[in-house]
Amino acid sequence: MNARQFLSGAFLLASLVLTAGCERFPGYPHPGSEAMRPDEVTDFSRLYSQNCSACHGADGQYGPAIALANPEYQAIVDDNTLRSVIANGEQGTLMPAFAQSAGGMLTDAQIDALVKGLRQRWARSGYLQGADVPPYKTDKQGDAAHGQQVFQAYCSRCHVTGTQPLNTGGKTKTSSITDGSYLALISDQSLRAIIIAGRPDLGHPDWRNAQPGHAMSDQEVTDLVAWMASQRQQTPGQPYPAQDETGRGKKL
Ligand code: HEC
Ligand code: HEC
Repeated sequence: MNARQFLSGAFLLASLVLTAGCERFPGYPHPGSEAMRPDEVTDFSRLYSQNCSACHGADGQYGPAIALANPEYQAIVDDNTLRSVIANGEQGTLMPAFAQSAGGMLTDAQIDALVKGLRQRWARSGYLQGADVPPYKTDKQGDAAHGQQVFQAYCSRCHVTGTQPLNTGGKTKTSSITDGSYLALISDQSLRAIIIAGRPDLGHPDWRNAQPGHAMSDQEVTDLVAWMASQRQQTPGQPYPAQDETGRGKKL
């Protein structure tokens, strides 16, 4: 057999194999399992785990950033806010902008799928209905001096402030919420959301249970956030730009 005969034989064999039974080759994708273009993925679980779970936790809790799997959070935030935070991120914080129009990787359809999925999975219908819950957002100016008293009344049994050691007066408390590095990474709005909705995954109570039996008022939450914001340093050891440019110092 010369080289030419060998080649055409090999070619014939190869085409037989290819036409007859290639789907039996190991590794050949099963029908329906073809790789999807990343911008075509609209499945919530996949979008969430690829883009959000590192910061907001695998099941929407126990992450470093606010728990999204908290029905109280889902009850106070509206769809437009969710959509715009996911699309545009929160300037001056670690929350990235995901919309392609804002330099991210997700299409509008994918952002809609995320908003819908967050609701379907983690909102409970009618939750907090009738409860006297402070609104998610406020335009009111807070009174920082009064906010410090609010901290004493509602938060100081668990949290220390500034660089106070956790073990004070024989009682071990949890983190300092006026720690410069913490405040540098979080917006006033997110503090407000955490104070109202709590972090049930971490054992931080909601606005009704910081002092059981005495829910916080809208004004108290606003003043408390103003006080916490007043403790924010401009550059706590890191090269953050001035507050006003980043929005971190934005008034609520
Ligand atoms: C690199 C970390 C990181 C990733 C990734 C991330 N987030 Fe965030 N996210 C944050 C931080 C930090 C905040 C708080 C921002 C602030 O201080 O305002 C936040 C805030 C939010 C808020 C607003 C919370 C509030 O205060 O009302 C929503 C909603 C949100 N993220 C959803 C998502 C979704 C959905 C994804 C995935 C598409 C995602 N995030 C990915 C870190 C992240
Ligand atoms: C019953 C104890 C308790 C009370 C009361 C309490 N917290 Fe917390 N808080 C916690 C625990 C536990 C955590 C999670 C561990 C940590 O960060 O120290 C936490 C975390 C936080 C966080 C960080 C959450 C995050 O996701 O970044 C903030 C902000 C916070 N608390 C603010 C407050 C404020 C403001 C008050 C008063 C209105 C308050 N806490 C009252 C126990 C409490």
